[in-house]
Amino acid sequence: MEIYEFGKELISEAGDFIRGRMLEDFRVDAKLNPNDLVTDVDHETEAFIYERILEHWPEHRIIGEEGHGTDVEDTRGVLWIVDPIDGTLNFVHQLQNFAISIGVYIDGKPYAGFILDVMNDNLYHALAGQGAYKNDVRLGRVQGTHLSKSLVSLNSNWVVKEGIGHTFTEIVRDARSTRSYGSAALDFVNTAQGIVSAALFFRLHPWDYAAGMIILAETGGVMTNLLGEEISILRKGSVLAGNPEIHEELKQYFTRDEKFIDSHRKAHGEK
Ligand code: IPD
Ligand code: CA
Ligand code: CA
Repeated sequence: MEIYEFGKELISEAGDFIRGRMLEDFRVDAKLNPNDLVTDVDHETEAFIYERILEHWPEHRIIGEEGHGTDVEDTRGVLWIVDPIDGTLNFVHQLQNFAISIGVYIDGKPYAGFILDVMNDNLYHALAGQGAYKNDVRLGRVQGTHLSKSLVSLNSNWVVKEGIGHTFTEIVRDARSTRSYGSAALDFVNTAQGIVSAALFFRLHPWDYAAGMIILAETGGVMTNLLGEEISILRKGSVLAGNPEIHEELKQYFTRDEKFIDSHRKAHGEK
């Protein structure tokens, strides 16, 4: 079975797994800080996805948020980048508004993206160069918008953060309004559908955006870091996703701001 069809089946089965598993008790643990949570279901879902891929494709490599692929240091061959539950805080507190995100890259090039909005059972998928879909319906191209007439998805944590908060504050002031959904993967499919015009993050990991980057590109959207630079699929960094017009407009807020650039460089160790 080809990788794209396999990926769609795999993520749907992983969704079934989560919905079944949620009916039982699960354990919640803190990772790096008390608000950085992980559950048994995150671990079990990642193991489910990992085992299914390697059963079919033993030569493929997999990076997962919950510990698989820590030895992967290059993008050779077929690389699966997996977030078993994106939006774990929503999963724990709401039992909804979370996604599974799986991006596939071949020799470092985008190949296919899959994002399952688990509780609504909506599958977003794209094969690079072939368009993006919500279930069986092809998504149209994103429409250009200006910030003053746009909804922008933004986590308020960044607005109150020393060294960068002033730049995010300007954006909050100039946007029509902001939204905070709590799942980067869902932010990207929302951006691909024009539900929001842009989504901004000071720090994300490859598993948060590997699939969303492919799906968004297939609708004509743009994803770079906040300074407009190319994103790595192996290293964490900032993310600016949006339709081309607002992407360009938002990029100016960050690139004209020396204090922000300095904080960005310190946080991400660039330049
Ligand atoms: C998180 C979500 C959230 C984003 C965080 C991510 P997780 O992923 O995508 O929207 O703001 O930075 O870590 O931890 O729930 O997989
Ligand atoms: Ca995530
Ligand atoms: Ca996760």
